[in-house]
This record gives sequence, C-alpha cells and structure tokens, in this order.
Amino acid sequence: MGKIALISGVTGQDGAYLAEFLLKKGYTVHGIKRRSSLFNTDRVDHLYQDPHIENREFILHYGDLTDSMNLTRIINDVQPDEIYNLAAMSHVKVSFDIPEYTANTDGLGTLRILEAVRLLGLTQKTKIYQASTSELFGAAREVPQTENTPFYPRSPYGVAKLYAYWITVNYREAYGLHASNGILFNHESPIRGETFVTRKITRAVARIVLGLQDVLFIGNLSSKRDWGHAKDFVKAMYLMLQQEKPDDYVIATGVTTEVREFIRKTFKALGIDIEFTGKNEEEIAVIVNLNEELFIEKTGKEFLKKIRKRISANPVVVKVDINYYRPTEVDILLGDSSKARKKLSWKPEYNLDELIYDMISSDLILMKKESHIRKGGYNTFNYFE
Ligand code: NAP
Ligand code: GDD
Repeated sequence: MGKIALISGVTGQDGAYLAEFLLKKGYTVHGIKRRSSLFNTDRVDHLYQDPHIENREFILHYGDLTDSMNLTRIINDVQPDEIYNLAAMSHVKVSFDIPEYTANTDGLGTLRILEAVRLLGLTQKTKIYQASTSELFGAAREVPQTENTPFYPRSPYGVAKLYAYWITVNYREAYGLHASNGILFNHESPIRGETFVTRKITRAVARIVLGLQDVLFIGNLSSKRDWGHAKDFVKAMYLMLQQEKPDDYVIATGVTTEVREFIRKTFKALGIDIEFTGKNEEEIAVIVNLNEELFIEKTGKEFLKKIRKRISANPVVVKVDINYYRPTEVDILLGDSSKARKKLSWKPEYNLDELIYDMISSDLILMKKESHIRKGGYNTFNYFE
C-alpha cells in the first residue's frame, strides 16, 4: 500500500506541483478545496479524476481552514500518513486589507490542523508539514537569513505565519508530533498567482510584445527577493517529512535580485533591452534596443512589425504606481539553505534565468491564445488588478 497524503491548499501553485510529485511517487493524494462560485481546480485539472471512477488516487474534499469541525472530519476520514498544510491567504499586500481573515486562516488554521491530529489520536501516525515563509524575517536582522536569524514580520500575513510557525514548534515539543516548518523563500512558476510580482511581470511582458497591453504598472522596484522555482521547492517539503526527526529548514536559492532586474531580464529573454530612468514614483523604463533575430525566434515573425511600430511611437513600457506600495515593506530577502542542502540533500535545479524563461514562454502561449480569440471577434478577460 502506498502512503496517503492530505494537502490543504491543493488548488494553489504549490499544492498543484506537490500533488503531481506525490502521485508520481505512488501516494494516494487527498486535497482540500474551497467552495467557490466558479470552478477553482484549473491547476489540478490534469490530475483530476472523475468522481465516479473507483480506486481513485486523487480525491478532493470541500473544506476551509476556518472550519475546525470540517478539518477534523476530513482528517478522520482520510487517516493521512502526511499532512501538507499549504492553505493560506498568501498575498502580503492583501493581508493589510483583510488582516483578521488572514490571522484566522494562516494562524489559527494551522492550530486547527495540529489540534485535530492530536484529538484524533494520530500524533504517532501523521507527519505534518507547515508552510512557513521567509516573510517571517521581514525587516531582516541579518543577510543572508538562516534558521537562526531572528524573526521580524512586517505584515499581517507575516505575523499570522509567525503564530503558525511557533504553534507547530510547540505541538512538536509538547506532544511529540512529527511537525516541521519549511521556511520557504519566494518560489514562482508558470502557474504562480497572477497578482504576485513575477507573474504580473511575465504576463505583462507577453501582453506588451503581442500588442495586448501598453504599460506595466508596478510598485516598489527596489525590493530584493530570493526567487526559486516552485517545482524545486515542493521536493523539499516531501524530503522534510521523510526524515526520522522533525525539524525546521530554510529553503532558498541563495541569490537575491531586485524587482527592477527581474523586469529587465524578462524583456531581455525576448530580445528587448530596456533602460530605467527617473527616481521613485517618477521612474520609468523605455525600450532602447531590439534584437530582431532573437525576438523572431522567441516570439514569432508576425509580431515584429507591431513591436517596431510600438517602439517608434512610444518606447515607455514600465511606470510606477504607488498604489502597489505596501504600508511596511520587506526590503531584502536572501536565504542560506546550507542546513537543507546538507541534511535533506536538497538543491534547486532551476536558476533565475531558467525560471524566467519557463514563465515567459508559458505566458506567451497563453497570450497568443488571447490574441487569436480577439482576432476571431470574441472578448477576452482584462483581469485588472
Ligand atoms: P497560493 O497559490 O495562493 O495557494 C493558496 C491555497 O490556499 C489555494 O489553494 C487557496 O484556495 C487555499 N486557501 C486560501 N484560503 C483558504 C482557506 N481559508 N481554507 C482553505 N484553503 C484556503 O499559494 P502558494 O504560493 O501555493 O503557497 C502555498 C503556501 O506556502 C501558502 O501557505 C503560502 O503562504 C506559503 N508560502 C508561499 C511561498 C511562495 O513564494 N509561493 C513562500 C513561502 C511560503 P483557492 O485556490 O480557492 O484560492
Ligand atoms: N505583488 C506585487 N505587485 N508586488 C510588487 C509590485 C506589484 O505590482 N511591485 C513591486 N512589488 C514588490 C513587493 O512590494 C515586494 O517587495 C516584492 O515585489 C514581491 O512581492 P510579491 O510577489 O507579492 O511576493 P511577497 O514577497 O510579498 O510574498 C510572496 O513570498 C513570500 C515568501 O517570502 C508570497 O508568495 C508569500 O505568500 C510568501 O510567504
């Protein structure tokens, strides 16, 4: 018999990659999805099985991290060997708008899962992974950050996750649970939520080169993040639960990059050089050079005329909008994952350029589809944020 895993947040970026990874390892994977007025299972559609099939390996349950009874019932029904608690209101900026909901889901939600495992008498059977975050370091006391760097969260999200981190440690120490915190630095992918900065950038660049959008409006260009690929990072979650003893691990690439540089690299991947000028909210970026050969190779010959015309009419492609600034910012995150590399034998396979290329290639395909739909006379969504 293969192992049984339960993933909360299975419809999210990490949940989808982790479910796929565990299914390939022979697990039966149960996931918790929220009720929504629209289908919300796009990211796991390729794994989804018709509920009428017998002996399914991938099973979804309606649930919510704010509902203790529901969580307790699901855990009792599933009797999981491993729980991956990935569900969260995961957007830092939005957590300033809905702080109480964020605390309830991201903080107390973790307690609800730990307590359910304890009450159901599963402390010796069920191992738990808690999705902790580099946002705990916040106004970082040192660079790079390790498992020993003091925490200083800078958002309602970070503070809620601080509670979740410590309640996980407390249940481990108090009740002997195999519960581990993965302190994961930012990780991205082609299925990253569209309102996180990397995906916002790769989508916008794809739209700009295809003539579907004029400008990328962006917030703080100077913040620095240690960006990795989600595919690499979900492997670390699994490895933590295969250890004899539970523990807490930093998972990071060890390279930090400015938002500004991420934008520059994304345009560059398609043969476009941009230059930033101006300061603070007056800062803009303009196209200064087009490598036509590379542009045609990556984007397609049919879009060359359009981009040439665009550059001569108006080369400004990035503008700052202070509405995307946060009340308190995390300026720099850079992780030192030596412990994970040594104890878990984990290391990332993607570097930043490969990550960007994966994301922009995928968004180009998506936006070309949109372009075709529009040419066919149909409407597409705008999804302004
Ligand atoms: P994500 O794409 O935003 O996915 C979050 C998941 O949680 C979604 O499935 C969402 O459901 C679900 N969810 C939200 N509120 C819920 C609730 N009240 N009850 C049940 N489910 C709920 O996030 P992610 O990037 O995959 O991140 C996974 C976890 O790792 C999160 O806990 C995040 O805070 C943490 N983390 C992420 C990063 C990163 O860089 N990606 C780094 C460190 C830590 P819907 O699909 O219905 O919205
Ligand atoms: N989202 C967004 N949108 N961020 C922007 C923008 C913008 O238009 N312009 C600049 N930024 C800056 C933010 O101010 C922040 O400094 C940085 O880009 C990264 O923002 P996000 O991509 O939203 O991610 P995050 O670092 O705040 O949080 C993500 O990583 C955490 C791990 O460190 C999320 O995935 C969290 O759930 C995760 O815990």
